[in-house]
Amino acid sequence: MPLRVLSVVSELFPLVKTGGLADVAGALPPALAAEDVAMRPLLPLYPAVAAAIIGAAPAWDLPDLFGGPARVLAARAGSLDLFAIEAPHLYARDALYGHDDDAQRFAALGAVAAGIGRGAIAGFVPDVVHAHDWQGALAPAYLHYGGGRRPATVMTVHNLAYQGQFPAGLLAALGLPASSFAIEGVEYYGAIGFLKAGLRLADWITTVSPTYAAEIQTPAFGMGLDGLLRARAAVLSGIRNGIDTDVWNPANDAHLPARADTERPRNKAALQAALRLTADPDACLSGVISRLTWQKGMDILADALPALLAAGTQLALLGAGDTPIEAELARAAAAHPGRVGVRFGYDEGLAHLIQGGADALLVPSRFEPCGLTQLCALHYGAVPVVARVGGLADTVIDANEAALAAGVATGVQFAPVDAAALAAAVARTVALWHDAATWETIRANGMLAEVDWQRPAALYAALYRSLAV
Ligand code: ADP
Ligand code: GLC
Repeated sequence: MPLRVLSVVSELFPLVKTGGLADVAGALPPALAAEDVAMRPLLPLYPAVAAAIIGAAPAWDLPDLFGGPARVLAARAGSLDLFAIEAPHLYARDALYGHDDDAQRFAALGAVAAGIGRGAIAGFVPDVVHAHDWQGALAPAYLHYGGGRRPATVMTVHNLAYQGQFPAGLLAALGLPASSFAIEGVEYYGAIGFLKAGLRLADWITTVSPTYAAEIQTPAFGMGLDGLLRARAAVLSGIRNGIDTDVWNPANDAHLPARADTERPRNKAALQAALRLTADPDACLSGVISRLTWQKGMDILADALPALLAAGTQLALLGAGDTPIEAELARAAAAHPGRVGVRFGYDEGLAHLIQGGADALLVPSRFEPCGLTQLCALHYGAVPVVARVGGLADTVIDANEAALAAGVATGVQFAPVDAAALAAAVARTVALWHDAATWETIRANGMLAEVDWQRPAALYAALYRSLAV
C-alpha cells in the first residue's frame, strides 16, 4: 500500500493562490504518486475552492469547530484528490488572510489535520502529517499535546517572514493546554507562535532549498527563530522546489503566440506590445514577475532603474503587493514611456508571456527560500539574473569566467543585494546578450537544467519513509 501523507496547507494551485506555496502544494501530489506516496491536501473551503471542487462527499462532521458547525468534504479538483474544511463561519470570505480571527481560522486547519491524523476519516489514515508554513503549523502541536499514538509530523518552512503570532490570552480558546505555553511548546516572546510551535514540535523540519536551510540558522536570516533552528539542526533539511512542467511547458503553452524556441522573437514582440514598450527587437528586454514586497527587493529595483535603462535594457514588470512600492514603480514607468512597462495585479497569462518573451528575468530578492520564477525562466529560455541568496543561489549557475570557460553557466548572480550590484549585474547581462554565441549557450544550458519535481519528490518520499513508523 502506498504511504499516506496529509498535506496541511492554506492555498492550492489552481484553486487558490497568492504565491509559490500554492504551486508547490498543487504539484507535490502528482509528483509523489510516482514515488508510491498518496498525498492528500487538506485546505479551507474558501468560496473559490467551493466553486472549483467536484464530487464533494462529507467525510467527517464536527458539530463545533471554533464557534460553528463544520464538515470535512472529500472532493476532487482536476486530477487532485483533496479534503476541504467546510466551516462558513471561518472561511466563507474571499480574502485568504488578514482577518481578525485568523488565529481561529488556521488553528482550525491544524486541529482538523490532527483529527484526521488520529484516524477520524477511516478511508484515509495518514502515516505522515506534513504541515506548510504558519497556517498549517499547529497540526504538529495538536498531535503532540493530544497524547497517544500519532502519525509522524513534518513542518515545511516556505517563508520564515510570516510566523503567525497571536495573543497569549487565546490559548484556551484555541484548545491548547496551559502546559503548552512554554519555551518547549507554543510560547514565543510572550505570545502564541504558530510557526514556532510547528518548528519546536514537528518530528522533522524542511525548507525549500539547501542554502535557505543553512541561512535560517543565522541571525541575519533567522527572523528571531535562528536559535531554535540551530537547536534542531539535526532534524532540519533543505529540499529545493520544482515547477510543474505540465503547467509550465514552453512547447505547449496556450499563453504564448509562438511555442518554438526559434520563434521566441514573436513572443518578445507580443510582450512589448502588451506592456506598451517600444517594438525594438534590438533592446535587451528584462522581465520581472513578483509580489511587490521588501522580500523581493522591488524597492531596490526601483532605485536601480535609471542605471538599468542606461545599461540598455527595457523592463516589463508584472506584480501585485504593497501600495507604496507599486506607486514608486508606476512613477518610474510614467517617466520612461516605451522603456518601462508595468502591469499591477495577478495575471497568469502575462506571467507566462514574460517567461516566453523576455530575454532576461530579474529576481533581486533580499531573501528567497526557493523561488519558482527563476526555475520557469531557465525552462523557458529567459536568462535569470538573481540575487545570490537561498534557492536562487542553489538553482542558477553564474556566468563567471570559470563557468563560461567550462560551458556550464545558466544565468547571472549578484551580491550584495543592493541597487549598485543589481545595476552591475544587468550591465553584465546586456554585455553577454550582445555576444550571441555565448548567450545561446547560457540559454541552452538553462533549458536543460533540472527544474522539475522528480528529484525533490524522491527526497520527500525517502524522508516520509524514514519517519513513518
Ligand atoms: P513567492 O511565493 O515568494 O511569491 P515564488 O517565486 O515561489 O515566490 O512563486 C511565485 C509564483 O507566483 C510563481 O508561480 C509566479 O509566476 C507567480 N506570480 C507572482 N506574481 C504574480 C502576478 N502578479 N501574476 C501572476 N503570477 C504571479
Ligand atoms: C515562499 C517563498 C518562495 C518559495 C515558495 C514556495 O512563498 O517566498 O521562495 O518558492 O514559498 O515554496
